[in-house]
Amino acid sequence: MSDKQKEKKIMCFENAYRAGIAHLKMHGIKVIQVEWEIKTLLEQVNKLKPTRIVEIGSRHGGTLYLFSKFAGDYAHLVAIDPNPSANLSTIKEHITYPHNNKVAIIPKISQSEYALDFIKDTFPEGIDLLHIDGSHKYDDVKSDFERYWPLVRPGGLIAIHDIKGAGAKQFRGQVKRFWTELKGQIPDLVEEICAPDQEFYGIGLVHKLEKEPHPKNYDPSESSEAMSKSLREDSAGE
Ligand SMILES: C[S@@+](CC[C@H](N)C(=O)[O-])C[C@H]1O[C@@H](n2cnc3c(N)ncnc32)[C@H](O)[C@@H]1O
Repeated sequence: MSDKQKEKKIMCFENAYRAGIAHLKMHGIKVIQVEWEIKTLLEQVNKLKPTRIVEIGSRHGGTLYLFSKFAGDYAHLVAIDPNPSANLSTIKEHITYPHNNKVAIIPKISQSEYALDFIKDTFPEGIDLLHIDGSHKYDDVKSDFERYWPLVRPGGLIAIHDIKGAGAKQFRGQVKRFWTELKGQIPDLVEEICAPDQEFYGIGLVHKLEKEPHPKNYDPSESSEAMSKSLREDSAGE
């Protein structure tokens, strides 16, 4: 790619990002992530061009909308949130039209069988992008990762928000605790979008290996210990 083409590509990304933020602002929706963190994540999304997207915790639809800006054509997005705001329905319309995307809002907790079964039925070929930003309690984040990661297709991406600490005091260290354990188990598969001395927010990425077994072969009774063992073995074989 020539320098001119590269510059054009960066400009396209920047313009789409700015347009996305401006659109959300116009509807009174503030993006809560640190700007360079969300932009770095969106650059990865832009490369992946996902068409099967699941977000756990969508609130007003800020990140869901931004993902849709960088998704592939005819994307299908599912938002799981027990308390979706009224804004989310508006954002749903704006994601759907005029881009021929499909959006479903599941007003349930992500730990429910209903939500998990809905995702399994909707995406039998696997999820391309999973964003975990729902409950920030340790047990819930762990459960979200362990139950939904097998549904991500090989080569897909998982993003976890608040790996350095959530905004709300009562959950401050809990995502961080889960993330620290996870990255200790699979250091080769994770990437952190945050500064080394950062105390809040931060995004953790888990890159699912291309040769992971198909989600259909996943045994939900498999323990988390077995899961981390299989992830470690896969990464050792890379
Ligand atoms: C920080 S907000 C999400 C913000 C959104 N991702 C964004 O940046 O635009 C967290 C959301 O998670 C939802 N939530 C809380 N517990 C949940 C659970 N157990 N399952 C799914 N969502 C949950 C809350 O209702 C809230 O809307």
